[in-house]
Amino acid sequence: MENSKRTVTCGELTKADVGKKVVLNGWVSRTRNLGGLVFIRLRDRYGITQVMVGDNAGDNIKKIASSLKSEYCIAVEGVVAARAEKDINKEMATGEIEVEATDIEIFTVSQDLPFSIEEVRQKDGTLVIPNEDLRLKYRYLDLRRDPMQQNIILRSQVTFATREYLTSKGFLEIETPTFIKSTPEGARDYLVPSRVHPGKFYSLPQSPQLYKQLLMVSGFDKYFQIARCYRDEDARGDRQPEFTQIDMEMSFTNREEVLSTTEGMMQHIFKKTLDYELPAKFDRISWEDAFDFYGSDKPDLRFDMKIQDASFMASLADFNAFKSGASAPGREVQRHKRSGLKALVVKNVADKYSRKHIEALEAVAKTYKAKGLAWMKVDAQGVFEGGISKFYAGKEAEICSKLGAEKNDLLLFVSDENWQLACTALGAVRKQLGKDLNLYNPEDEFHFAWIIDFPYFAFNEETQGWETEHHMFTLPQKQYWNTLETDPGAVKGDLYDLVLNGYELASGSMRINDPDLQQRIFKIVGYSNERAEKAFGFLVQAFKFGAPPHGGIAPGLDRLIMLMRHEESIHEVIAFPKNNLAASPMDECPSVVDQQQLKDLHINVYDTED
Ligand code: AMO
Repeated sequence: MENSKRTVTCGELTKADVGKKVVLNGWVSRTRNLGGLVFIRLRDRYGITQVMVGDNAGDNIKKIASSLKSEYCIAVEGVVAARAEKDINKEMATGEIEVEATDIEIFTVSQDLPFSIEEVRQKDGTLVIPNEDLRLKYRYLDLRRDPMQQNIILRSQVTFATREYLTSKGFLEIETPTFIKSTPEGARDYLVPSRVHPGKFYSLPQSPQLYKQLLMVSGFDKYFQIARCYRDEDARGDRQPEFTQIDMEMSFTNREEVLSTTEGMMQHIFKKTLDYELPAKFDRISWEDAFDFYGSDKPDLRFDMKIQDASFMASLADFNAFKSGASAPGREVQRHKRSGLKALVVKNVADKYSRKHIEALEAVAKTYKAKGLAWMKVDAQGVFEGGISKFYAGKEAEICSKLGAEKNDLLLFVSDENWQLACTALGAVRKQLGKDLNLYNPEDEFHFAWIIDFPYFAFNEETQGWETEHHMFTLPQKQYWNTLETDPGAVKGDLYDLVLNGYELASGSMRINDPDLQQRIFKIVGYSNERAEKAFGFLVQAFKFGAPPHGGIAPGLDRLIMLMRHEESIHEVIAFPKNNLAASPMDECPSVVDQQQLKDLHINVYDTED
């Protein structure tokens, strides 16, 4: 072929182009050989074009066409032709045309593939997804698959829309170092040994937290960064050892401004990339209500089914299991002044839900440490039946009216002295029911909400000491400043989480800018002056030079793309992720290094078995 560089992509030809001479470049997705005719589905990032090798092609070209196999990388020269009415494929953007080949050049051939790049479905219609480690070993091929291309393309569009929005609001994009001092921040640090300073280590940042605060001290006022973060923590579907945050910080601001800026950014991202309108304001739920109603600080609000208080039932019958939750409250119940006897009303399933179904739900509740899941049904006559119904016979009217239950509803209960435990367990049951009963439409709903008024401190039963729920630079709400030391358990923080469809998407807070207040927090969580100085001395020092009031937030970019694409794992939206053992089967990292490299770094690796 004289000039094999493409003149058009595989996604753009339409009926309007009929008669044009074109050159296409791409990969052979599939071929069909019908004797005299060869059809090639040619694919690139932009789409698929059907190429027809027929009468216009000479014998040599027909021979080349017959030799093509999946994933050969080729150039096709040809003329755009309209398809006959019966051959039009409405599913394809290029479905009205085909290109009649006049020449074909094979750039490179492909070995047999470890898995199909084209979508494969079982007879019952379910998608066949190749094994994850195989996908990761051949990630460059996995990324050729259409859903992966769409994920990575959306990711690029979202980062662009983010930059567009934040820049238009006066934010500056500033990079912060990825070799930093190791500071305690929740998870374990990844460490990088120093060759020049024997025995010393850099740490990879868990987030740019301290540096973005220092940029506020420097007067940059509005900062953002698409920031890479590193955390050595246990793997989960929504966690990776290295991940990306849309990290933001603002000066002379308040909570309202941070929340509305984030709302504006999300609206812009969803509109620009998915053409989806988000509401102007997101719901706000206090941390206590989130647990009380949904049993989680990251509730899935795409369906309602709120958890209800059932403490009134404790006095209606002599049922001991319910007394513990309602009448013998433990520390958590008293602290939050909420009852530990909780109910869920599952609408119109009593005739469908067998004992086996209910046992499966009980198993879910028990993984969250509930002692059990009590239940009863309202039968077709409005009478309680099954489970604990014998204790409540005759009380149908009162119970049903208070809980809003009707005929054919299933009532589920968890009772515990620990309010948060009861809510969490029933919240997990609620989540399971949402899935089982398909209570939401996962394809077209994005339900954002803010969780606010978090407890500032959490009591660690193991160390018998207080810890901060978020990080130590978060501002406690002002009304608690006088009682920080005397009643830490009651203190609420000026911090907020953004949740989307049952996931924590972002966390942020107003920060402390007063060195004295900061010292008090360090003291309550058991950091001596010396230890705080050693860990965060540079930040404490910086705050002695006129630190502005400031606050910020950091949405996780990977989680955002995962949710926008309705994926279940962030592995699907990261080009080269690690597997669940924090390893990469493709380049085999982490790997053993040369003895000399270790020597240069003053490191002696010993066998842990010894
Ligand atoms: P936080 O630790 O809550 O806050 O993290 C903010 C957001 O980052 C995402 N995220 C992760 N994503 C993938 N894999 C992980 N291992 C992972 N860990 C966290 C989540 C989470 O909501 N510096 C503070 C933010 C601030 O206060 O401004 C911070 O890092 O989406």
